[in-house]
Amino acid sequence: MRVTRKTTAAAASAAVLSLLLTGCGIGSAESFEPSVRSHEQVTVFTWWASGVEKRGLDKLAEVFEEQHPGIEFVNDGLMGGGGSSTSKDHLQSRLETQDPPDVFVAHAGAELHDYIRDEYIQDLTPLYEEFGLKEAFPQDLIERLSTDDGKIYSVPSNIHRANLLWVNPSVLERNGLETSGEYDDLDDFIADLETLKQAGIEAPLSVGTTWPQVHLLETTLLADLGPTAYSGLWSGSTAWSDLRVTTALGHYESLMSYTNPDRNDLEWDAASEMVIQGDSAFNIMGDWALAAYDTEGKTYGEDYEAVPAPGTAGTFDFLADSFTMSAHILDEDSAKAWLQTVSSKEGQVEFNKIKGSIPARTDIDASKFSEYQKTAITSFGEDTIVSSVTHGAAVPVAQLSVITDAVRAFNDGSTDIATFQAALAASADA
Ligand code: GAL
Repeated sequence: MRVTRKTTAAAASAAVLSLLLTGCGIGSAESFEPSVRSHEQVTVFTWWASGVEKRGLDKLAEVFEEQHPGIEFVNDGLMGGGGSSTSKDHLQSRLETQDPPDVFVAHAGAELHDYIRDEYIQDLTPLYEEFGLKEAFPQDLIERLSTDDGKIYSVPSNIHRANLLWVNPSVLERNGLETSGEYDDLDDFIADLETLKQAGIEAPLSVGTTWPQVHLLETTLLADLGPTAYSGLWSGSTAWSDLRVTTALGHYESLMSYTNPDRNDLEWDAASEMVIQGDSAFNIMGDWALAAYDTEGKTYGEDYEAVPAPGTAGTFDFLADSFTMSAHILDEDSAKAWLQTVSSKEGQVEFNKIKGSIPARTDIDASKFSEYQKTAITSFGEDTIVSSVTHGAAVPVAQLSVITDAVRAFNDGSTDIATFQAALAASADA
């Protein structure tokens, strides 16, 4: 599949002509004036700007340059794991000052609401027809991508699983514990954390900075509420005052007491590294962590395990990295070419093999992927699917930011469980 491209000069002239015809001046959305480029390129914003995260993006760029020689890929991203506030705030200011990247990654689902409302991104429904994507992606994903009026504003590059426990079996074995890392509930898990702590391991459960702490809360809520009541927290059908929430917050407090004291200074991949090195036995993180284990040459099933987070077997906590096309850009055809690569079979295979996620397309042979990824492909097909809150699938950015503040305050010791629960309840009004 190839995309026909306009020349940059023609695009620039068209933009200038349209400005002359409309007589607009700078300062309103209608008056946006894209900067003129000397050659064809696509500027791509992601938060996969360094470390293991960057390897998948580099591979995708390589496929792009093979599929579309003549268009230059420009890495226009910024580090900020999980799309944390560092990278999201930077992106937001670029959108507000009308200096958008041509395409940017966001999470499929509620996170896109504000970008759509503010008209920062374009309706890509016609691309779905042109590239045959409604048939290539599973129906459930198409529904999660579609707005109430049936439009789709992004193209997913992958599907990640958030509810995973990463395990160092040697640490468990040395301490006389069962090594699979499979726990039916949080109480059993906490009992093993206590055993490890008693044995002198300072942080049996590693965790990173704020968003990984929110991520840990998400899997704790999922374990104690189950998939239906967990999803109800975001749709409004489960009350935040529910006693199961109180239980989950108690478990969360307990889990946090087994984590590393320097957590606020660690990125997620440094927390993964603590498990890889055997300083911790466990870490709860999405399957982008696979890239960290791969890079260190670790073998799944021997050096580490990746199993459903305690109490969440049978549920797939879903998120998808999904590329959007900014409004008011100079060369939409170059952006379209990028989205074509993202959605292509080759793009999805090569990118996901490195990224740790599974392809969003269903017409790709599972044998191309690692042993862990095969388990994710099976689970995505069979399990109950819920939306990740930390990674933009379940709630809009404003609500996540209130939840994040509540988590920060609780983990700093400024609030107790009752205040924490009330603050989470208030997030629904954001
Ligand atoms: C998630 C994102 C993943 C990965 C991770 C860590 O939000 O969807 O692709 O980048 O954050 O940064």
